Amino acid sequence: MHNYVLETERLILRPLTLNDCDAVYKWVSDEDVTRYMVYNTYTSKEQLIKWLKSIENDDDYLFGFVRKDTGDLIGCGSIGQYEKYGDRWGFGYNLRKDQWGYGYATEAAKAMIRFAQKEFGIRRFACSHVEQNKASGHVIEKCGLHFVRYGQFQKLDGTCKMRSMIYEGDLDP
Ligand SMILES: CC(C)(COP(=O)(O)OP(=O)(O)OC[C@H]1O[C@@H](n2cnc3c(N)ncnc32)[C@H](O)[C@@H]1OP(=O)(O)O)[C@@H](O)C(=O)NCCC(=O)NCCS
Repeated sequence: MHNYVLETERLILRPLTLNDCDAVYKWVSDEDVTRYMVYNTYTSKEQLIKWLKSIENDDDYLFGFVRKDTGDLIGCGSIGQYEKYGDRWGFGYNLRKDQWGYGYATEAAKAMIRFAQKEFGIRRFACSHVEQNKASGHVIEKCGLHFVRYGQFQKLDGTCKMRSMIYEGDLDP
């Protein structure tokens, strides 16, 4: 687990800890949030504690998104090297449903991109979403990436195969 903390106009991005279990459960247990995510909907907090413990060993940079005005943890996302994107760094995000539509995902994704640029000199990025997930497409485009090709999405357990849209961008800080 890393120790980076990022700040944007409205958000603090910081590592997740086991203490975040109740807040994170609000979105990972919501089918409307998990529908187009690679993980399956969580049905118990025990399952979630396992995941929160496992992220210690992850190579990517996972951040919880905390609203500065309320102190609420409203979502999380990550950025890093993922095999499916080759030499590009990929990123992803999800938010509690009652926080959709306020620009938080775009603000957080841009902060993660800036972090990768400044901290690691990365400028080649990629991202993807299930074709139907138009909101995510807007976020990705607002971050400066453009559509390059279709791909295939599937959950981590191999189920739920759907067409995805893949985006790339060569972004300077
Ligand atoms: C995708 C998600 C992160 C977007 O979060 P958000 O904070 O609402 O995103 P933003 O407000 O920054 O931007 C959303 C954009 O999509 C647009 N949008 C929202 N719902 C939409 C819809 N149903 N169809 C088309 N566009 C939509 C918004 O208008 C906005 O674009 P605009 O600024 O050009 O108007 C959020 O909906 C979510 O957590 N979904 C579930 C998890 C998920 O799917 N994550 C992405 C996996 S690839």
